[in-house]
Amino acid sequence: MTMTIEPLTPAIGAIVSGVDLAQPLTDEAFATLAEALLDRQVLFLRDQVLTEVQHRDFAARLGPLHIHPIYPRSADVPEIMLLDTALNDLRDNALWHSDVSFLERPSLGAVLLARTIPPLGGDTLWASAAAAYDALPATLQAYLATLSATHDIAKSFPADRFDADTLAAAKRNNPPVVHPVIRTHPATGRKVIFVSEGFTTGIVGMEPTMADPLLAMLYTHFTRPEFTVRWKWRAGDVAIWDNRSTQHYATYDYGAAHRVMNRATIMGDRPV
Ligand code: OGA
Ligand code: MN
Repeated sequence: MTMTIEPLTPAIGAIVSGVDLAQPLTDEAFATLAEALLDRQVLFLRDQVLTEVQHRDFAARLGPLHIHPIYPRSADVPEIMLLDTALNDLRDNALWHSDVSFLERPSLGAVLLARTIPPLGGDTLWASAAAAYDALPATLQAYLATLSATHDIAKSFPADRFDADTLAAAKRNNPPVVHPVIRTHPATGRKVIFVSEGFTTGIVGMEPTMADPLLAMLYTHFTRPEFTVRWKWRAGDVAIWDNRSTQHYATYDYGAAHRVMNRATIMGDRPV
C-alpha cells in the first residue's frame, strides 16, 4: 500500500489513505505518519476496522497511554476510553479544549475511533493553536509569554453529570496545576497558545476582571475559521491529533441520537 497525505486546510489537518492501522506499520510507514502528525496536527483515516487491542497497540507506538480518571473505559482494554452517549452526558466535550490539560504532564495526543455516528451532526472541529499563535502581534506574543495559567479538572466535569464518588476522587487526585500560557512544542519548536475554555480557570497573579476577558479574547482568536478544520465522521474513521498544538470541540447538535467513540490517550511532557 502507498500512503498518501492530503492536506485539508493551510493551517491544519490532513486525510491519510493507504494505511491499515489493524496491521503493525513498518518503522518507515510509522515515521512518515508521525512526521505528518507533527506537521498537520490532526490526521484523519477512513474505513479502519480495529479491535480495541489493535487500537491500543497502534496508539502505544506514539507513547505510554493514559487511563482517564472519570470517563468509562473498556472492560477488556482499560486504555480504551468510552465516549458513549448511552453512558454519559457528553456535552462536556462541546467546548474547546486540549485533553487532560489538568495533569502536570498533559497529553501528547490521542487516537479516536468512531464506532457509532448519528445520522446527522456530531462533527468535531480542531484548531491549530500554533497557527493562532503565529497570527498574534509580536508585542502580544511577548506579553503572553510572561504569563502562567491554572488548569482544573473541575471545570469540565460538573457535579450534576457524573458519579459523585468518582468525581470527588478525581478532584482529590488531580489538584489544579499551573502551565505557561504559551508553550513551546517539544518536537517542532513551534510556540502555541495553551489555555482553553475546557480547563483553564485563571491567570496566575491576575484578577478575574482582567484575566477572564484576556482568556476570552484568546479563545475567540484561536477558533477563527482560518485556524480550524471540521470533520464529518463516518463509522470506522480514525482521528489522530496532537494535544500540544491543537484544541478540539465535539459539536453537540444531534439530540438523543446514539454516538460512540473510543479514545486512546498518549501521555506527554510537562509544558515549558
Ligand atoms: C475527545 C473528545 C471528540 C469527539 O475524544 O477527546 O473531546 O468527537 N471528543 O467525541
Ligand atoms: Mn477531547
